[in-house]
Amino acid sequence: MSDLQERVKQIAEEAAARIDGADSLPSLNDLRVAVLGKKGTLTQILKGMKDVPPEERPRVGQWVNDARFAIEERMELAKKRLEAAALSAQLASEHIDVTLPSVRQEIGHRHPNTIALKEVERIFVGMGYEVLEGPEIEYDDYNFTKLNIPDGHPARDEQDTFYITKEILLRTQTSPVQARVMETGKLPIRMIAPGRVFRSDEVDATHSPSFHQIEGLVVDKGITFADLKGTLAVFARELFGEETKTRFRPHHFPFTEPSAEMDVSCFKCGGKGCRFCKGEGWIEILGCGMVHPHVLEMCGIDKDVYTGFAFGVGLERIALLKYEIDDMRLLYENDVRFLKQF
Ligand code: DAH
Repeated sequence: MSDLQERVKQIAEEAAARIDGADSLPSLNDLRVAVLGKKGTLTQILKGMKDVPPEERPRVGQWVNDARFAIEERMELAKKRLEAAALSAQLASEHIDVTLPSVRQEIGHRHPNTIALKEVERIFVGMGYEVLEGPEIEYDDYNFTKLNIPDGHPARDEQDTFYITKEILLRTQTSPVQARVMETGKLPIRMIAPGRVFRSDEVDATHSPSFHQIEGLVVDKGITFADLKGTLAVFARELFGEETKTRFRPHHFPFTEPSAEMDVSCFKCGGKGCRFCKGEGWIEILGCGMVHPHVLEMCGIDKDVYTGFAFGVGLERIALLKYEIDDMRLLYENDVRFLKQF
């Protein structure tokens, strides 16, 4: 055997041993470069071919090629082995224990006020009403003047107000939204406007300086008090149950004429009188009336063509009644032990 053949055999054997011992893909690659690369040991043999007698060259070429083929094949197998090992090492290190208990996520839910509001919205949207909003910081003009409560009117004193400037205040009622909607001139109107209102009241079981109202307004041709009664009777039955009766008592609001307060038959005792309705059999729910012609005029609506009705409901009052809560302060304290129950 010639020296050259011996040398090729030696390279091939050495390479095979190192391939079998390779413990990583990078080291296998280093080995490839060291043996088969441009300056690799096996490649060097081909480069030395010029010193081999021409008749010998095909044989030497054959040895080198055979060796190269054997090394490549062995490397390919080693590569597969190392890749599989790397993959299982990765899988083992990234293993997720699905049996570990997870961090408990507390999911909250709607506040009783919101539950009550969504219920009221559902009822009116079902009757074709839009849900609109107005600003909580309001002009005195909208909160009072345009609602037929001019400067110096005694009704201003009934709603102790937080003034910001002489003309700007925290709205005491959602009724200013009526004026804002009528002023847009888009008729007919069929809307409710829920929102926060403010009054300079002391906190007790039934009062808070900040609470919520839902305003309602309908303006169209030929609207009568019968529409008002029918609509609010449907509302009361949907909200408090099919058996609920309604009664309208004459009242006074500056922006409606005639005006009324609506009572519902006590849904606890059915009207016989109990602790819940304080023996009355009836529970006061809201204020309402036919939009005052002067208000229509001030808001740019022709009072000879259009009529309308309006109403205002206290949201907390509905929530307290519906869920039989006896202290309004509970609604604002945000004690989860209380809120959880709804
Ligand atoms: N804004 C009145 C209040 O806060 C409630 C009210 C009464 C609203 C009659 C109305 C209404 O729209 O027609 O006491």
